[in-house]
Amino acid sequence: MVKKNTKIVHEKVVEPQQEKPAIPPIYQTSTFEFPRAELLGDTISGGPDNEVFIYTRGSNPTQRTLEKSLASMAGSEEALTTSSGMAAITLIALTFLRKGDHAIVSEVTYGDTHHLFSDMLKDFGVEVDFVDFTSPKKIEETIKSNTRLIFFETPSNPLLRLVDIKAVSQLAKENKIKTIVDNTIMTPLLQDALGLGADIEVHSLTKYINGHSDVVGGAILCSKKDFLELRKTLFTTGAILDPHAAWLVQRGLKTLALRLKKHQENTKKVVKFLSENSSVQRVNHPYLREHPDNKLALTQMKGFPSVLSFEIKGDLKDARRFINNLRLFKKAVSLGGVESLAEHPASMTHAIIPKAEREKAGIKDYLIRLSIGIEDAEDLIEDIKQALNQ
Ligand SMILES: Cc1ncc(COP(=O)(O)O)c(C=O)c1O
Repeated sequence: MVKKNTKIVHEKVVEPQQEKPAIPPIYQTSTFEFPRAELLGDTISGGPDNEVFIYTRGSNPTQRTLEKSLASMAGSEEALTTSSGMAAITLIALTFLRKGDHAIVSEVTYGDTHHLFSDMLKDFGVEVDFVDFTSPKKIEETIKSNTRLIFFETPSNPLLRLVDIKAVSQLAKENKIKTIVDNTIMTPLLQDALGLGADIEVHSLTKYINGHSDVVGGAILCSKKDFLELRKTLFTTGAILDPHAAWLVQRGLKTLALRLKKHQENTKKVVKFLSENSSVQRVNHPYLREHPDNKLALTQMKGFPSVLSFEIKGDLKDARRFINNLRLFKKAVSLGGVESLAEHPASMTHAIIPKAEREKAGIKDYLIRLSIGIEDAEDLIEDIKQALNQ
C-alpha cells in the first residue's frame, strides 16, 4: 500500500470519456510518460518524429497545435514556434549560417535584429552587408559566391518603406540564396511573403498574431526540410515557446482577422488626420499616394499596416513633449496589440543603432511611431489633436 506522500505525487488523471473539450487543453508538462521503456528508447534513437512527444524543450502538443494553425493560415508546409521573435531570427541565423558565410541584410531592421547581424554574427566569423533594399540592383551588386542568406523586413520599421518580395526572392533563387522575410507587421493574412517567393517567413507572435500585449513569442513558417533543420537547433538552444504562452497565442489567433480589420480602419483615419495637420511635416505610411512605395503596396499587400510614423515640426524635445502629452496612447515600445501605443524610435526601439547609421536611414530625432489599436478612431484622433496642440 503506497503511503500518502507518494499518492499525492502520482495523481489519478480524470479524462473525459466520450466528450471532447471544445478548446484543446494546455499540456503543461515538461516530459511525457511512455507505457514501456523500449518504446521511449526506440523513439529517441529514431529521432523525434513530429507528433511523438518526449520532452517539451523539443515539442509539446499545445505548441504543435499552434504550429499547425499557423502553417494552415500561411499555407506553409510547416511552422515552428519559439520563445520570442528574436529567438526565431537567431535560430534561423544559427541554423543556416556558418563561419565564412555571407549574409545580406536590409539597412533598416528592428534594432536587435541589426545588433544580431552587425555585432554578434560578425564575432562568429559571418560576413554581413547592410544594403538599401528598396533597390534590387544594390542587392545584386552585393551578392558574392559565399552569400547564403538574404534577410529583410517589409514594411520597414519605423519608416514603412517596402521591399519587392517577388523581385528579391527571384534574385536570391537565381543565386541559390535563401530569402527570409520578417513579416511581423503585416501577418500572413495581409501579406503572403511565401507565396511571393520567400523561403522563410519569420514573425514576432508578440505583435498582431497574439495581439493582446500579454505574450512574448516567435514563429518561423517554412518548408518541411527547413523545419527539420531548424528544429534541431531549437532543441539544442531551448528557445521554445512554453505551452501556456502557446495556448494564449492560439486564442489570440482566432480573432486576428477581425482585429486587423479594425486596426486598418482606425489607421486610415489617423493617417488622414495627421497628413492634414499643420504641426506635422511628414507622415510615413504606404496607404498615402505620395509614399514612394504606394504602387508596390497596392500589388504586394492585401491590406495596410497599422503602424505609422511621422515627423513633428520641431526637434527631439518637441517629439518627446508630444508623446508625454498623450493621454490615451500608451507610451510604450512594441506594436500590434489591441491598445494604441506611441514611441520615440531614436531613443527607444532603434537607440541600439549608432546615430550616424540611424540618421542615414532616415530615423530622425523628431520622428514618432504610432501603433494603432482597435479603440474608437474618434477618441484616438482627439488624443493626438490635444497632444499636438500642446
Ligand atoms: C519587426 C519586428 N521583428 C522582430 C521583433 C522581435 O520580436 P520579439 O520582441 O518578440 O523578440 C520585433 C519587436 O519589436 C519587431 O518589431
